[in-house]
Amino acid sequence: MSDPNHNHNRYPDEQRETVYRVIAERRDVRRGFRAEPVPDDVLARVLAAAHQAPSVGFSQPWDFIVITDRARRERIAALARRHAGEFADELPGARARAFDRLKIESILDTPVNVVVSCDKTRGGRHTLGRRTQPKTADFSSVLAVANLWLAARAEGLGVGWVSFFDERELAAELGLPAHLEVIAYLCVGYVTEFAPEPELATAGWARRRPVAWAVHAERYGRRGLPGEEPVDPLADVIAAIAPPDAAAMTAARERQDRMTKPRGSLGLLEDVSVRLAGLAGTCPPPLPEPACVAVFAADHGVHAQGVSPWPQEVTAQMVANFLAGGAVVNAFAAQAGAEVTVVDVGVAAELEPLPGLLPRKIAPGTADFTQGPAMTREQAAAALTVGLEVARDLVAAGNRCLITGDMGIANTTASAALICAFTGADPAEATGRGTGIDAAMFARKVEVVCRGLARHRPDPADPVGVLAAFGGFEHAALAGFILGGAALRVPVILDGVIAGAAALAAAALAPDAVGACFAGHRSAEPGHAVTLNHLGLRPLVDLGLRLGEGTGAVLALPLVQSAARALRDVATFDSAGVADKL
Ligand SMILES: Cc1cc2nc3c(=O)[nH]c(=O)nc-3n(C[C@H](O)[C@H](O)[C@H](O)COP(=O)(O)O)c2cc1C
Repeated sequence: MSDPNHNHNRYPDEQRETVYRVIAERRDVRRGFRAEPVPDDVLARVLAAAHQAPSVGFSQPWDFIVITDRARRERIAALARRHAGEFADELPGARARAFDRLKIESILDTPVNVVVSCDKTRGGRHTLGRRTQPKTADFSSVLAVANLWLAARAEGLGVGWVSFFDERELAAELGLPAHLEVIAYLCVGYVTEFAPEPELATAGWARRRPVAWAVHAERYGRRGLPGEEPVDPLADVIAAIAPPDAAAMTAARERQDRMTKPRGSLGLLEDVSVRLAGLAGTCPPPLPEPACVAVFAADHGVHAQGVSPWPQEVTAQMVANFLAGGAVVNAFAAQAGAEVTVVDVGVAAELEPLPGLLPRKIAPGTADFTQGPAMTREQAAAALTVGLEVARDLVAAGNRCLITGDMGIANTTASAALICAFTGADPAEATGRGTGIDAAMFARKVEVVCRGLARHRPDPADPVGVLAAFGGFEHAALAGFILGGAALRVPVILDGVIAGAAALAAAALAPDAVGACFAGHRSAEPGHAVTLNHLGLRPLVDLGLRLGEGTGAVLALPLVQSAARALRDVATFDSAGVADKL
């Protein structure tokens, strides 16, 4: 233990607290700027602080362009508005509405704007440290921004960073030489007050991630703060999953009975609203929006057994289709105002990096479970972790509802095996026709499931072992996704049989996880009914769908949202002055 008294380099307590205070109270400011100018000596101090930033090889690659001219700022504001408009056009419903309420720049509201640039060539060829990592030049200029931002806060000056620019357009407006790049566009001025939290957090656009998620002991993965026992995220979420809040459920039930409608007349939606309240621990619960469907995609070794009429390449081709916005799930999500994210957790092809794709491949497809385990226990644990991390990330990004999606040719076969393993169902009862197969292929599929079960003799008390035996990677990741949502007490709308099989694994790992699950629909796959019975979940939609992708769950999103909204918005007999039934 270090004795602070021996640490003569440490600042006295009050000064040290001031350093931490300025770090905590620095904000990106966009509202409440005052018109008064920034005195030259104050701006000069702030720029001198920026200029003291560390830099690779002491190359000091930054320049600061100070802009006050109104006409120039108007032209620059017009550039930013155009890019903000293009961004807004791509947003799903709830996000677009939220974006509309945000203020994202104050170019004209502030008396001075400062552009921080970077000269990647400054210092010449032998700049110490830049050879192996050219990006370190950019990092250095960003550190100058950080210094400027902190010094400005100490001066009582607000700073707002604007990044809605095409860099070349901005460089032309500023007369930047071709070898300089724009790093930051900063709007600077005095403000009436500094908000205690980021505006994006207050507005519900995104949430602060706990610092413990970001700190790893020795190697990536084992999380925890210094002095704490590091935990792996799976153990962490399982420990965090708790039963629904009984008081909030009682309050929701009582409110349903006092709402201006006959008691029970909202049928299953009343149960949904009560469960949402129990999950949130408050009545009324928050509206489950924005919502995001995560389509977990992976391939299956058991495809080699001839259990699907579709070639394996279709998995990768459909991933491309999801990313291009051309699949049914995209159409339904656009209608419901949900975002679509695709997670490559094990597609048997190299996928191009594209916006909307999370590259989290464990392996290019599982092994054939009739020949051996589909994956190792380590791979199953890794896929579970991928799923829960995706849930955490999507919730931190502001989503209040998670929706399961899946893509993987042959994954109904793996699902049937998982369902039999967890529920004890007969393979002939739990196996379905998937994408549509003939009698001969169906008979083979049942026989393949039987062979798998006979080979692995799964123990439902060992869910990781069951996942490892039969796969796929998307099932394990979906189980982690459900656990991640449950730990954060965010509703997870389940799609069909693949999500159901994953939910069985999640429930075996943490029984209370079912409290976060809402069965979006009942699929035409027979194993799905078995699964929903086992989980005790009633489906919201029953349209004979058997597509997967998350389509059935996305269709149920407005129902789940309506259930929450009813509890929140509908008047009670007393509040509306409506007479109750005698
Ligand atoms: C690289 C970078 C670019 C940013 N661009 C924008 C922007 O274009 N518009 C905006 O409103 N905020 C922008 N921000 C501000 C962030 O939204 C803000 O830092 C974040 O929400 C955290 O809030 P805080 O800075 O108040 O702690 C940017 C921040 C950074 C670091």
